[in-house]
Amino acid sequence: MKFFIDTADVAEIRDLVTTGMVDGVTTNPSLIAKSGRPMADVIAEICGVVDGPVSAEVTATDVDTMLREGRYLAGIAGNVAVKVPMSINGLKACKALSGDGTPVNVTLCFSPAQALLAAKAGAAFISPFVGRLDDIGAVGMDLIAEIAEIYAAYQFQTEILVASVRGPHHVVEAAKLGADVATIPPAVLRQLYRHPLTDKGLEAFLADWAKTGQSILPVESDAA
Ligand code: G3P
Repeated sequence: MKFFIDTADVAEIRDLVTTGMVDGVTTNPSLIAKSGRPMADVIAEICGVVDGPVSAEVTATDVDTMLREGRYLAGIAGNVAVKVPMSINGLKACKALSGDGTPVNVTLCFSPAQALLAAKAGAAFISPFVGRLDDIGAVGMDLIAEIAEIYAAYQFQTEILVASVRGPHHVVEAAKLGADVATIPPAVLRQLYRHPLTDKGLEAFLADWAKTGQSILPVESDAA
């Protein structure tokens, strides 16, 4: 399962890249706005830090401008994936851009029908927003199961990119369902390795070790 980081905070990305857990990055207009920086600058810097796909989202809603924006974003770096919203114009832009060989991430997906259309339009990724479905009392992971079933039935190559992840439970459930990618906020990624019993166990190991008075590394003598 690939982990993408869902942020436009380059400092966070630089820190988390050192874990070896970062296979790509997703941004959106809200995350770019939060960065306070020009989109092209942020995307270019992220692409220099991460080798995997970096999603940059168009902000136009008409096809012609989506295509111009998408081609501009794709020109920033070779690992840019162009994000388009799930709409009839987004699908038309997806078809054209993917036809150019540009990887497209169709975002704001909330139904299996939308996911089916994105795959037929040649999307490289589909981004179902599980957290926002949970927020309205639906079960976001049920959508992932439905998309996985449909995509397997037709051997679609579009990768399921689970988005709007709210906690480790979404990552684990997505993995159980065989989703290709989860895009994870930095704070959630940092929750994944934490468990109170791990902390407690390590504390006990180190306390017992301290009682031995031993050191793993040879003690350097003070030989003159
Ligand atoms: O970036 C796409 C998606 O992950 C946004 O999630 O938290 O705004 O629902 P969220």
